[in-house]
Amino acid sequence: PIHLRDYRRPDWSVETIELEIDLGIDTTEVSSRLTLRSNPSSSAPLRLDGEGLELLAISLDGSALDVHAYRYDKGVLEVDGARDGSVLETRVRVRPAANTTLEGLYLSGSREHGFLLTQCEAEGFRHITFFPDRPDVLTRYTVTLRADRERFPVLLAGGNPAGNGELPDGRHWARFIDPHPKPGYLFALVAGRLENIQRDYVTADGGKVKLVIWSEANVIDCCHYALDALERSMRWDEQAYGRNYDLDVFHVVATHDFNMGAMENKGLNIFNAKYLLADPDSSTDEEYRAVEAVVAHEYFHNWTGNRVTCRDWFQLSLKEGLTVFREQQFSADSNSASLKRIEDVALLRRTQFPEDAGPLAHPVRPAEYREINNFYTATVYEKGSELVRMIAGRLGQDGFRRGMDLYFERHDGQAATIEDFLSALGDANRIDLSPYLAWYAQAGTPRLHAKGEYDAARCEYTLTLSQQTRPTPGQPEKVSLPIPVKLSLFDRQGTMLPLHLDGDEQADGTEKVIVLDKGSQRFVFKHVLAPPVASLLRGFSAPVVLECDYSPEELALLLTHDADGFNRWEAGQQLAMLAFDSLHEGHHSDACKAWCDALAALFEQHAIDPALLADLLTPPGEIEFADRQSEVDPGRIHAQRQTLQHRLAERIGIDALLARYHALSANAHQHLDNASQARRRLKRRVLELLALVDAGQAHALAAKQYESAPGMTDRLAALGVLVRDRAPQASDALAHFRQRYANNPLALDKWFTVQAQVPGDAALAIIKQLENDPAFTLKNPNRARSLFGAFASTNPSGFHRADGEGYQLLTERLAQLDALNPQIAARLATAFNGWQRLEPLRRHAARLALESLAQREGLSPNLSEIVGNVLQR
Ligand code: ARG
Ligand code: ZN
Repeated sequence: PIHLRDYRRPDWSVETIELEIDLGIDTTEVSSRLTLRSNPSSSAPLRLDGEGLELLAISLDGSALDVHAYRYDKGVLEVDGARDGSVLETRVRVRPAANTTLEGLYLSGSREHGFLLTQCEAEGFRHITFFPDRPDVLTRYTVTLRADRERFPVLLAGGNPAGNGELPDGRHWARFIDPHPKPGYLFALVAGRLENIQRDYVTADGGKVKLVIWSEANVIDCCHYALDALERSMRWDEQAYGRNYDLDVFHVVATHDFNMGAMENKGLNIFNAKYLLADPDSSTDEEYRAVEAVVAHEYFHNWTGNRVTCRDWFQLSLKEGLTVFREQQFSADSNSASLKRIEDVALLRRTQFPEDAGPLAHPVRPAEYREINNFYTATVYEKGSELVRMIAGRLGQDGFRRGMDLYFERHDGQAATIEDFLSALGDANRIDLSPYLAWYAQAGTPRLHAKGEYDAARCEYTLTLSQQTRPTPGQPEKVSLPIPVKLSLFDRQGTMLPLHLDGDEQADGTEKVIVLDKGSQRFVFKHVLAPPVASLLRGFSAPVVLECDYSPEELALLLTHDADGFNRWEAGQQLAMLAFDSLHEGHHSDACKAWCDALAALFEQHAIDPALLADLLTPPGEIEFADRQSEVDPGRIHAQRQTLQHRLAERIGIDALLARYHALSANAHQHLDNASQARRRLKRRVLELLALVDAGQAHALAAKQYESAPGMTDRLAALGVLVRDRAPQASDALAHFRQRYANNPLALDKWFTVQAQVPGDAALAIIKQLENDPAFTLKNPNRARSLFGAFASTNPSGFHRADGEGYQLLTERLAQLDALNPQIAARLATAFNGWQRLEPLRRHAARLALESLAQREGLSPNLSEIVGNVLQR
């Protein structure tokens, strides 16, 4: 493994690179000319990274090198005789069409119609040319692309266009110069037959920019929403952070063949089509929001990632956590802030908490890794964003902006560290933020224990907070972290009380942040006239698990009265947890009754935002329930969660559900405004609840909704209800959908997913049948994820069969996938995280499957690292 503590400055850096690339589908030749700078304090020979390159020519300072003057072995080219200022020229051959890893230079689509593109983060550039492929080597790029004009009419690279022209034999060329030095991971090129839409943009500081979105011709009409989102993101970054775009052009390209969501290559962002294309007929409301969020995320990287990049890959969260946070702020500003917060916290709990609680736990800044591609995790991204949010909260809006300004001022054009980030934010506010470094270094989700005591005689409320973080692999001892707890106190009528914290002069508001920075601490509130209910951790002010022995009545009070949408939802989630735990107490446990009564009352209140109501009516997911149990039976969790929802639906009543459904269905359309989206969201939830208490009626309505749906949101919602219930109408609807979207891969992915999510033992046979569909392939990451990702990571009761057949099928496919695309295989394998806490039968079966996978010959470093870690070897 590579260790953070072993970081050394580079022995050699590269001032300029000139690339001349002769593009071809089967073979591409890359000529490079590097001007080298040696680090004066080192005398190490020149070593460049290069993976799978066929070296055709090499010269140093103008003279061809003798075979004894260089060695190329195990991914490293070592060259004798280089000095400061030397010029190294190499020419290599690479094979795009044979590259199934989708890293480096590869072909998207078919040989006849597809196009060429690159993916270099984290270490893909070394698959294209010899280079010190590390993020702290910043270089100025001049890139010349040459290709057959008919086959590759469009030639793009990062930076500003700097000429183009004809060549003999029907070929042409195009040159791009990037004035901003950048690391190799931000290099990109695209070549092929693509259409575009464009728009002129003038930055706040007067720069003229051409915004261009590129895609294959048949989907170019689906790019308008992304172009709007891009423009909104650019304006927002100017206003919120004073950051302007810095090139003459901004290109964005969509591909169906992509390992992740998107990539922020300088001046040439490349997107998984799933996060760029949107049209009402094939995209749901959620997908529209995801397009907006990812467009914003990649755009925001231009400053947090590109202008200030990372010193090494241990600092990945420096750009990713910060950029996720900026995207969350942007989305909160553009849509509903509380719904966005609910969505993000739910995502954190579903993806990051399980990571932190199992064998794959790692700090936001890992101390070691073997395969960096395995560290693009929910911890680095989502928890990383939560850490930035805590710090931003500590500094306040103006203080955070001051800190960010200083961060950009100090580190523009540099490769920075997380310490640099905290110092800039702290220095700008004369605050020492170094205690927050522990959050970056320590894995595991802290448990925050809260206990309130009311002293009627003294009119005092004492809140005792304590924290504890369980050991994680390699980190047996944990330290105390600074935990900001935003809180309010409510009286029993649901009114917020003024806060008088003992020892705090500037008291009085109704909301306050207290910081627990020891193991345990007491906070005394004075002048409290009656026993209050504490609303703790408002807005999810720290990424912790709150343990507080609320009574059902207290939670119901917060669920009913808290003005803050997020905290209202949070109280409902906690109450649903209590209700879930008490289900065995028979039909009418206090908690279950309190949850159902409170929600039934809210259901009647027509003033509440329908989208918030939809979220309130949704209990925590199966993964969240599993996370709280020491011996997990996913089948039982599914059944109990169904029971819980059944009770809720019963309590609301068939008539009320039906009436609401019909009201929400009146003149359905596909407008994208918040109010319309909110109605669709609630309509879906109501239909799902109705299906629990009156399946016949709900299925008939769903079938009708499927047929008359004006857009994908309603269509997929209806299909989901029919398919998950295995309703008689499901097969016709599925057949119809399959045919209607036969030529629309993104819509077809949803067809695979909705079936892969059928709960329980029925899922496996469905998966096996879907694998034989002619449209199924492991070669396309979206398609592989739409079936196996959906099955293994989002359908616990289907995947975790007691007979272990789910595990056997997945490990079989992982081995096949690994031979094609190790990054995707490794990612899908994380579905095994948490297997040690399964009940004994499943645990045994999972171990056998994992062990036999681990023993296979020739596994990639990516997959073997994940499998090894999951097995805790
Ligand atoms: N930097 C990209 C982003 O915007 C993701 C790159 C992921 N790379 C990888 N090798 N997994 O988040
Ligand atoms: Zn990112």
